[in-house]
Formats: sequence, C-alpha cells, structure tokens
Amino acid sequence: MERIGILTGGGDAPGLNAVIRAAVKTAQGEFDAQVLGIKQGFEGLLNAEGTLELTQREVRGILPLGGTILGTANRGNPFARRTRRNGEEIVEDASDEVVERIEALGLDALIVVGGDGTLRISMELYEKGCPVIGVPKTIDNDVGGTDACFGFDTAVETAMEAIDRLHTTAEAHHRVMVIELMGRDAGFIALSAGLAGGADVILIPEIPFKSETIYEKVRHRAKSGRYFSIISVAEGAFEEGGDQRFISDMKGGHAKRLGGIGQYVSQSVTENCEVESRVTVLGHLQRGGSPSAFDRGLATRFGAAAVRLAARKKYGRMVCLNGMEISDIQLDKALAVPKRVNLEGDEIRTARDLGICLGDS
Ligand code: F6P
Repeated sequence: MERIGILTGGGDAPGLNAVIRAAVKTAQGEFDAQVLGIKQGFEGLLNAEGTLELTQREVRGILPLGGTILGTANRGNPFARRTRRNGEEIVEDASDEVVERIEALGLDALIVVGGDGTLRISMELYEKGCPVIGVPKTIDNDVGGTDACFGFDTAVETAMEAIDRLHTTAEAHHRVMVIELMGRDAGFIALSAGLAGGADVILIPEIPFKSETIYEKVRHRAKSGRYFSIISVAEGAFEEGGDQRFISDMKGGHAKRLGGIGQYVSQSVTENCEVESRVTVLGHLQRGGSPSAFDRGLATRFGAAAVRLAARKKYGRMVCLNGMEISDIQLDKALAVPKRVNLEGDEIRTARDLGICLGDS
C-alpha cells in the first residue's frame, strides 16, 4: 500500500477530524504510505482542486476540533450529480469519472467516512470496482452493523445539557418545555438525552404517539404539585395516524428536512392542559463542537482500523464497534437494515419503569 485517499461525506459529526488524524498517523507511521485528503466529499474527486496531501503536519492539533478539515457535502452523490449548465440545473451520473479519478490519483484504497447515505454511495462505487473502505459516522446513531457511531455521544451530551438548562427555567415559570432533537427516523438522541436529562415525556419515531397520553402525564404531574414538565421529542416523531412533519420550502436536490413536531406538541399541550408551553429546537448545535472523550476514542480507533483494513486489501468493508472491540463488516450487510431504537431493549424498559411517558400509554 503506497497511497490512500480519505474523504468525509454527509452531515458533519464531532470526531471526523479524529478519524482523519488517526488515519494519517497510522498510514505514515505504520505503513509508510501517503494520504491524500479529498475535499467536500465525493465532489473533490470531480474537481481539479479537490485534493490535498495530508501529512502529520496537516493533522497536528485537530483531535479536539469539531467539523472536518476536509469539508463535507450533503448533496455530493456522484451517481446523481447536480450541476448547472447554460444556467440550468441538470442531474447526471458522474460515477465513471469518480472511478477514473481514483485510478488516476493512484489510490490503493479510498476511506470514506460517512453516514447511511454516504456509505450507500461507497457500496455502489465498490460494486463498480473502487477499493472503498467505510467508516460509520453520524450523530443519529442509525447506521447498522455497528454498536456505535462516533458523534452520537457528543450530540447526546449537548442535548442533555440543554435539557438541564430547560429544567430550571421550566420549574421557575411552571411551564412545559418541549425540546426537539435531531435523529431523522431514529429516536436515539431524544431517548438517550431524555433519559439522562430526566425528561417526563419522550417521543420517538419508533413509537407513534397519542396526544392524549401526553396531556394525561402533564395534568397528572400538575395535580401532584409538579407544575412543569419536560418533553424530549425526536424531529421524526409523529402522532398515531399522522405523518412526520417537514420544513417544506426545500429545493435543489436536498433531502427533505424534518422539523415542526416540537412546535405542534407544544401548541397542543398549551391548548389542552391549561399550561404555558415553549419549544426549543436544538438543531445543529448537536452537530458542532469538540467531540467527547468517547467519540474521540472511537473515531481514533476507527481511523487506525480503516487503514489496517486498507493494507490488507479488505475493500467493500466497514469498520465497526462490536461490544468493546473494533471489528469490520461487509458494507452491504451493515446497510441491509437501518438501526432503530429497540422497543424491547433496556433503555425503553427503563423509561417505562421510571414512569416516563413514551406517548403510547
Ligand atoms: O443525519 C444527521 C442530521 O443532523 C439529522 O439528524 C438531521 O435531520 C439532518 O442531518 C440535518 O441535515 P442538514 O445539515 O441538511 O440540515
């Protein structure tokens, strides 16, 4: 192995820089291999200025930094690339160009650090013959085949701190505070942060909720002298018989953005429980900032393991956490079933034991 590439794709997550640093240090220190950074996700492979050599110098001091020194892109699918030609937006398959560029750059392997969408693109590139190795990242924790993704722990910490702050103001004003948290179709952040922050109601996409159960919980707390409540709601949660809520004005090939369920829950609680309610949408604060110790450690171990896989030519595989150990899994197996909150699992069981309302009973 003489030369490998690395790119970060999809939404950023705390720990991306830790992966890049670990990959560069391992490639150079252990294998005497060069590392080429690809900028702005796959887009960097379609653009003459899209790469930069990474040496130990470039990765010095980046371990505690959020974001990614390589940049990332949500719209960078080379199989359906959007460009403008003669003032018009067109969608074209640029995957052959990507394959050629990887060859032309002399990359023995391409490490792709991404979530579900980016890893799916990687799998398709692998099927076209690219020497791809996946590294799972996402704050949503919804990538299958791994017990954890880096980024999630930091996001939960941020969300928990926000819930702690809402608690004191909720209690002071006798209000219901609704916090809307990220996670797309998975409720991991809302559930874990809700448990850690002592939420009274937790609403996740895996359990469609009945509004009446929320009202009952809020009224019951008020009757017993607790005139405030905290509701942790995942952006993808929805009412039984209803649909997820989206911010509608999206155009230009972006994925539809979830949003609005927090406002809906807050308003209906105000109207039905004779109590004031406010909503906080935590948004991208969950993605920013310095990674937690857990995420730095996991991301570092993933970065080093990905380079070891590259050296063994184990293309088409993704590094993963299996219990306490780093392992690897075939990309198609990892992506076969998206990870969702286990409704029979311990976190849900614990929430129920503690009397937290999950919207279903
Ligand atoms: O997948 C990560 C994530 O942060 C989701 O939780 C959220 O729905 C989405 O990305 C937001 O994406 P964008 O950066 O396009 O607003």
